[in-house]
Amino acid sequence: MNGQNFQPIRLIDYRPPEFLIDELLLTFRLKQRGTLVQASSMIRRNPSADRRNGPLRLCGEQLQLVELRLDDRRISLQDVCVTDWELIIENVPDVFKLQITTRVDPEDNTALSGLYRSSAIYCTQCEAEGFRRITYFLDRPDVLARYTTRIEAPQEECPVLLANGNLVAAGEMDDGFHFAEWQDPFPKPSYLFALVAGDLVKIEDEFVTASGRRVTLQIYVHERNRNKCKHAMVSLKKAMRWDEQVYGREYDLDQYMIVAVDDFNMGAMENKGLNLFNAKYVLADPRSATDQDYLAIEGVIAHEYFHNWTGNRITCRDWFQLSLKEGLTVFRDQQFSADMNSAAVQRIEDVRLLRQFQFREDAGPMAHPVRPDQYLEINNFYTVTIYNKGAEVIRMLHTLLGPETFRRGMDLYFQRHDGQAVTCDDFVAALADAADRDLTRFKHWYVQAGTPRLTVTEQWDERHCTYVVTVAQATPATPGQPDKLPLHLPLLVGLLGSDGGDLAARVSCPYERRGNDLLLELKEVQQDFVFREVPEKPVLSFLRGFSAPVIVNPFQSREEAAFVMQHDSDLFNRWDAAFSLAEAVILECLAKLVAAETMELDPVYLEAIHYLVGHPTDDRSLTALALQLPAENHLLQALKQIDPVALHEARRFVKQELAGRLADGLLNLYHDNEPSATYRLTGDQVGRRSLRAVCLDYLVLLGEEQQDLLELCAHQYRQGGTMTEKIGALSALAQVPGALRDEIFDHFENQWRSDPLVMDKWFALQAASPAADTYDRVKKLLDHPAFSLKNPNKVRSLLGVFGQNHVHFHHESGRGYRLLADRICQLDPLNPQLAARLMQPFVTWRRYTKDRRQLMEQILQEIGGQAGISRDVYEIVSKSLA
Ligand code: ARG
Ligand code: ZN
Repeated sequence: MNGQNFQPIRLIDYRPPEFLIDELLLTFRLKQRGTLVQASSMIRRNPSADRRNGPLRLCGEQLQLVELRLDDRRISLQDVCVTDWELIIENVPDVFKLQITTRVDPEDNTALSGLYRSSAIYCTQCEAEGFRRITYFLDRPDVLARYTTRIEAPQEECPVLLANGNLVAAGEMDDGFHFAEWQDPFPKPSYLFALVAGDLVKIEDEFVTASGRRVTLQIYVHERNRNKCKHAMVSLKKAMRWDEQVYGREYDLDQYMIVAVDDFNMGAMENKGLNLFNAKYVLADPRSATDQDYLAIEGVIAHEYFHNWTGNRITCRDWFQLSLKEGLTVFRDQQFSADMNSAAVQRIEDVRLLRQFQFREDAGPMAHPVRPDQYLEINNFYTVTIYNKGAEVIRMLHTLLGPETFRRGMDLYFQRHDGQAVTCDDFVAALADAADRDLTRFKHWYVQAGTPRLTVTEQWDERHCTYVVTVAQATPATPGQPDKLPLHLPLLVGLLGSDGGDLAARVSCPYERRGNDLLLELKEVQQDFVFREVPEKPVLSFLRGFSAPVIVNPFQSREEAAFVMQHDSDLFNRWDAAFSLAEAVILECLAKLVAAETMELDPVYLEAIHYLVGHPTDDRSLTALALQLPAENHLLQALKQIDPVALHEARRFVKQELAGRLADGLLNLYHDNEPSATYRLTGDQVGRRSLRAVCLDYLVLLGEEQQDLLELCAHQYRQGGTMTEKIGALSALAQVPGALRDEIFDHFENQWRSDPLVMDKWFALQAASPAADTYDRVKKLLDHPAFSLKNPNKVRSLLGVFGQNHVHFHHESGRGYRLLADRICQLDPLNPQLAARLMQPFVTWRRYTKDRRQLMEQILQEIGGQAGISRDVYEIVSKSLA
């Protein structure tokens, strides 16, 4: 394999920086090729460094060094050492000024890290290590400097010039250039630097903070998108108000800017005062964006805004602490979305994502703790573990401490560490101090990878009216961590009586009550929880609200699960009961299929779903969620050896069977829930649209015999006034190849070919389709004029989604593997970060049937053998093969 010389970065090697930079003046003279960057820094030796006489070592990549001056004297470039990743200057004084001029070519920057151009806009992405692609610098988050940024650019091409902070000067220059100077009063690490220049329009609004300061809010987009920013602006104002009300945090600059760009590796970026967004998370109108898009925009806008306190004012000491800001900020944005919309729906969506993607990561060769201790390429660690398991860890602290104490802990954290770069330990220490609790064992969550499994056993003593729940925990071994410590976790539970009511208030037990729930704290490998004066044998409602990110081994009968599904006061657990029931039923069918027995639908399950269809709750989104079967990505985790085709067939059988048996009920649900003609983003309306989409998704499977059901789909597509309804119809139809499907997909393409975000949906629906012709279509779509390897949204919609299409990606011939692998090798030299993300479906290759295993292993070796392989892809390949 190539790339063996990449060196891992280790947490134990962390040392404070030898130098500090307090002040930085940046001047950009922008050109598509040959942008000149002058960086003038005030540098001094760090009094608390381990070493006080070493050379100055600055990070730098893909730079052309033009000139160097130390205390205004020019240094010959012969007297310094320049490597592919560093500039080393020997014998520097203790305090000095350094001026560096570098040259970069934004137009050729396809990696989308550093300074690049996207749809004629100059923009930057510096997290994690992009700033070193702009100038030589101490590009690490524990070096905080005050930035002044001067941008010079052709006025015609770039009427708008933006950087962090406040505008302090602007004016015209010679030869059609103009300039703007921005000053950011808050010291910040280089990863929060941002610059934007281009032809953009701005949408403006105002926010008055709790203490009465006026903040100007601006969203910058291309002229053609001017009318698609309203929802983002409303979301921003909601987020600002919420952070004041719930966390007592106010915004701290006079201006807050958001810029939407078309080419972006991630979702968005929290640069101080100047957020950069993937256009997907800003632009929306009902005609072109779905309800899901609207909700995602609200969540991401809030996420980036919340970073201002959790990430910017208090930042990370090093990148091992990434979850300090990401886990905490995801937790905050989840809380926000739960408050703005349906809390139960939000929780279900968050848990679905965690189970499908994080549990899968945690069980494979890329498993890592929330605070990793080693990496090759930090960009590979912007993971569901750091983000979403990290958020679960914060949520557990919130549950253990209770909301008031948690808030006091947060206040203490802000008070202690404002303006600092700190660690996850510092964060937990603030909470522990405020709560006056010992959280030592809890901290294992930060250092231990793997998803714990809980085993639950119940004992009912009728004579003494005593009920005992025994819970045992075990975390499986993960790479580099063969032995696991027990964790401290909160278990919220309820006891249901035979009438379905909560018994918790009536029983005697030493556990803290939280509303309807009891809080059990598991700290040992195994513990008994005893409840006395229990009037009858209860049905246990375990792990309410998914109070800990664990897998619970099934312990209830299907009848009990159906009971929880109907009666639990915890809406999350109602859904979860439906989900685990469906999981058990599908896996049972799969076992039959593999054993060549006839598959049958379990009558208990059928009855439970029948009841659900006949008695939908007021929160229609909840009913819609309960009707959806677990994704293949989730189901396969329970299998010893994965045969993706058999799994798909078993799941499809259950779906088809439900459709057939419940057709009348589903059709009634469909007709009873027509949304209003004018678009509104209320729970009621969103619920109607999603419930109808689920109904269609089942009903269309009966289309072969009942043509009118296909017509129902077509009718919704043609008459539906919103993108949500159109996508609902399209995604149902995508399952049934035929003339009608083709006609409608073609119609959609013709209508939307010039809207890239809508075309992403069109690509994704085809790449996700189980229909037999998917491989051929995807292959053809790679040459579609709207597709481009250079645009990450396109790559994710077509190739990323195809990699998650289990039947087709894992086709026994290996053609699916080949298709993806070829594109990864093509993409790696252009955008290694994105190429590495596409590797994900190969990572768990060892879990598949023998023939597939062999094919994937070969492919991994082939990718690993590429000349010039990036550190990003190399890390994924080598860890997968290890
Ligand atoms: N901090 C950003 C966010 O979560 C993510 C940016 C990461 N970008 C990257 N290239 N690794 O909001
Ligand atoms: Zn973030």
